[in-house]
Amino acid sequence: MGMTLAQKILKDHLVCGEMIPGQEIGIRIDQTLTQDATGTMAYLEFEAMGVPRVKTERSVAYIDHNTLQNGFENADDHRFIGSVCKKHGIYFSRPGNGICHQVHLERFGIPGKTLIGSDSHTPTGGGIGMIAIGAGGMDVAVAMGGGTYYITCPKIVKVELTGKLQPWVAAKDVILEVLRRLSVKGGVGKIIEYCGEGVKTLSVPERATITNMGAELGATTSIFPSDENTRAFLKAQQREEDYRPLAADPDAVYDEELVIDLSALVPLAACPHSPDNVKSLDEIGSMKIDQVCIGSCTNSSLLDMLKVAHILKGKTVHPDVSLSIAPGSKQVLNMLAENGALAVMIDAGARILESACGPCIGMGQSPNSGGISLRTFNRNFEGRSGTKDGQIYLVSPETAAASALTGVLTDPRTLGEMPEFALPDVFTVRDNMIVPPVPAEEMDSVEVLRGPNIKPFPVSEALPDSISAKCSLKVGDNITTDHIMPAGAKILPLRSNIPKISEYCFAVCDESFHDRALELKQSIIVGGSNYGQGSSREHAALAPLYLGVKAVIVKSFARIHMANLVNAGILPMTFADEKDYDRIDQMDELSMENLIQQLKDGDTVTVTNRTKGFRFDVNVSLSDRQKDMLIAGGLLNYTRNNA
Ligand code: F3S
Repeated sequence: MGMTLAQKILKDHLVCGEMIPGQEIGIRIDQTLTQDATGTMAYLEFEAMGVPRVKTERSVAYIDHNTLQNGFENADDHRFIGSVCKKHGIYFSRPGNGICHQVHLERFGIPGKTLIGSDSHTPTGGGIGMIAIGAGGMDVAVAMGGGTYYITCPKIVKVELTGKLQPWVAAKDVILEVLRRLSVKGGVGKIIEYCGEGVKTLSVPERATITNMGAELGATTSIFPSDENTRAFLKAQQREEDYRPLAADPDAVYDEELVIDLSALVPLAACPHSPDNVKSLDEIGSMKIDQVCIGSCTNSSLLDMLKVAHILKGKTVHPDVSLSIAPGSKQVLNMLAENGALAVMIDAGARILESACGPCIGMGQSPNSGGISLRTFNRNFEGRSGTKDGQIYLVSPETAAASALTGVLTDPRTLGEMPEFALPDVFTVRDNMIVPPVPAEEMDSVEVLRGPNIKPFPVSEALPDSISAKCSLKVGDNITTDHIMPAGAKILPLRSNIPKISEYCFAVCDESFHDRALELKQSIIVGGSNYGQGSSREHAALAPLYLGVKAVIVKSFARIHMANLVNAGILPMTFADEKDYDRIDQMDELSMENLIQQLKDGDTVTVTNRTKGFRFDVNVSLSDRQKDMLIAGGLLNYTRNNA
């Protein structure tokens, strides 16, 4: 039986497990990327592992999210990341060099390789034929340390593209159509694999727009074949040697199939407040607009920008509209400057922004109250723009530019004949904003620069054979990760300072918890059902680790938080008999003996309540790998021991 393209690449990288959808598989990771908002913690975690140099083929750190300096924290983060990279073998893309996914596609992406990145739009790399997956910061740290990356083996969905896009209909309209059909949940547990005659009509940057927004489907990733268009893109980037042809076997078997006739597509928009709330421009009608933002990792390639410049040429932005444009990379910005397109944009009245995430991450350009904003971005959740009642519509650059001129939502097909837009044969390649690491033999000469807000990752120790500790906190049902470790504007800048951020740990439940836990040095938390529901926030496990929490005994766990506790080296345990929850009070002394043997022998551990004088059983329902991780003292120790 033939294989799909995704299956071929996964099989090439398979370390353990069987490629059966739904089962856990471990894969080898060739490349990693981080952005600054998640990168600081990822590099603190990498340092904590004690691996001197990254073991990946290529790891790159980008600075693109927090580029507006307000206070010293972000600048310190960037300096820290730059110096860690230099020392440990990581390439550092300086602020100003562009958005991580755009630059990675241009300068580092290689067909057939695996990439994980601590940013959810890492699947952009699927446009060049990579298996590129968004992951947690600790996963990226582990991959850099040579560790395996574990995923649930996904189902493969075939999306067959037929025909050719009509003039002024764009790649963005293709992915909006997929979102309209499959919804924001339609890709969960799946890889979306594109094939068919229509693929040939799309350039690599257009394919990357489509794979980028596969993240909005909830998909593990999306992928295009690597073909002559891929070769042409790599050749123009002066990296033809990275090209290899890749495609699914003709008799590949897919789990689901979908056909999209490109010729039948029309310009679309995702209406507030969800990327799958997709309508045609005709259905929405002529709507007055206040703002247009062009850019983001979805639509900021040279091709996008050249189309926008063509539409704006010799015209003026409508007086009631604010138009901002953020080219996706220094390369794009440079080439726009060289060929005059930048002058065209400026002349039309566009406000040119830095090559960074900018308004997509709420860094400036929030729309006016109740304002209608057309954006070429990938997300339009309520409030993400920074204006609570802002109405965000996600559209193609063509629709955005045409509408900026008229002041109303405008179908770009009214622009008349479309010239042939093609990628240049040669891009301007000057990687002077990408700092390479020093050679391994010089790494000792590099000092890692830490500002006052950057504190080392809390060290977890190997699991002791016996634990005796007081219950420092007893909580009820439905404790969320927001209870455990709140977020918010005041707390977010402390993400690389675990001692400081831990002052907020459980503060909404019990203000004295932080001080009590520190005083006890080691302790156990007891809780009810559905403990840790909510987000995948790693800090909800890292702050308790710093505060000396050794085990969490509850009626039931939310799955992701339980995995995060294991990664941190904290024992996640559930009551064998839920009635025992009522027999424990805060500050009771709980102890466990022969812990390691009990974990190895089975899924049950006996706990003694020394204060009240009774014994009870708890379950530790984990895989052998997770138990080994706990015994090692968490994922980072486990990776170091096995590297
Ligand atoms: Fe940046 Fe927005 Fe993409 S925050 S990485 S441009 S989704």
